[in-house]
Amino acid sequence: MKIAIYSTRPYDQLYFDRYNRQFGHELHYFDTHLDAETLVLSKGAPAVCVFVNDPVHEPLLKSMRDQGITMLALRSAGFNHVDIRAANDLGILVANVPGYSPYAVAEHAVAMILCLIRRLVRAHARVREGNFSLNGLMGFDLHGKTVGIVGTGKIGTVFAHIMRGFGCQLLGVDPVESRACRDLGLQYVSLQTLCRQSDIISLHCPLSAETRYMIDDAAIADMREGICLINTSRGAVVDTAAVIRALKSGKIGYLGLDVYEEEEDLFFEDLSDTVLGDDVFARLLTFNNVLITGHQAYFTREAISNIAKTTLANVAEFEQSGQCTNQLIAT
Ligand code: NAI
Repeated sequence: MKIAIYSTRPYDQLYFDRYNRQFGHELHYFDTHLDAETLVLSKGAPAVCVFVNDPVHEPLLKSMRDQGITMLALRSAGFNHVDIRAANDLGILVANVPGYSPYAVAEHAVAMILCLIRRLVRAHARVREGNFSLNGLMGFDLHGKTVGIVGTGKIGTVFAHIMRGFGCQLLGVDPVESRACRDLGLQYVSLQTLCRQSDIISLHCPLSAETRYMIDDAAIADMREGICLINTSRGAVVDTAAVIRALKSGKIGYLGLDVYEEEEDLFFEDLSDTVLGDDVFARLLTFNNVLITGHQAYFTREAISNIAKTTLANVAEFEQSGQCTNQLIAT
């Protein structure tokens, strides 16, 4: 099938070309986002493929339907950027790539924790300057600490296993409880209890109407002084303005972000020659206890391989049967 692949970077093309040998789809790569103006690039392609920062809302879906597009293949597990209900109503099948590598994201969250609580970025910068002073670099042991996990699905469960290995106590919040997490000794509690009792909180839930700004002023007020907060889920699960207030007051002692609510115009681009126009993001960068990565938690060889293989297989299944195992239906 002819597939128009948007927001493509060289590494996407490398892996899609490699795995397409077994599928034989006709692949057309575009480095631009999919939007009303760039839609025309996909003329003649029944399938369009996008990544996490291509918002696909109802007006765009209508134009896609009018252009003859019947499938939207997501190269991601998360699908908060797509109006699934509108796509279902318009007869455009949307498929995602669930669980392509929960290890990639969980391990990145752990890397952020270790980097923050042992102040590795500051330490590395000092050593390069010939400054071997340890003042301000004191960390804390993970062993015996309480880790709160919001969202104990595929990624949250892998994260729970790793943190258990460090000797941490586990608390969780999730409307759907995981047997594997319970078996690790994780206790399900309310968000308020999790905030009150955790030394570290890591977010692994999807972005939805219920989770948008779940971490706001009120939730932060419940947290322990000097909390370590990690967000590798989606930016808008956290109210960034509230988090900045809490960094200024010292309530948040360590912040690790792989996602940011306004990341769409920033992440995945080289903007090093431009002036940063986002003042909120610029403020985040001023804190030495904040570590930010540009939505790279998923970015491992294994994950990219699985994303390419599953996306191409999703399109092949749709081409053959008109259905797809990974198709998304609005609830
Ligand atoms: P999953 O669907 O296996 O797990 C999500 C869990 O969150 C489920 O158990 C669900 O019941 C729970 N949940 C839903 N609403 C909740 C709420 N209100 N409070 C607490 N828990 C709630 O998904 P998976 O694969 O573990 O991914 C989780 C999220 O991680 C994705 O939705 C995506 O936003 C993010 N992600 C980030 C990546 C990155 O590179 N930074 C890469 C892949 C995913």
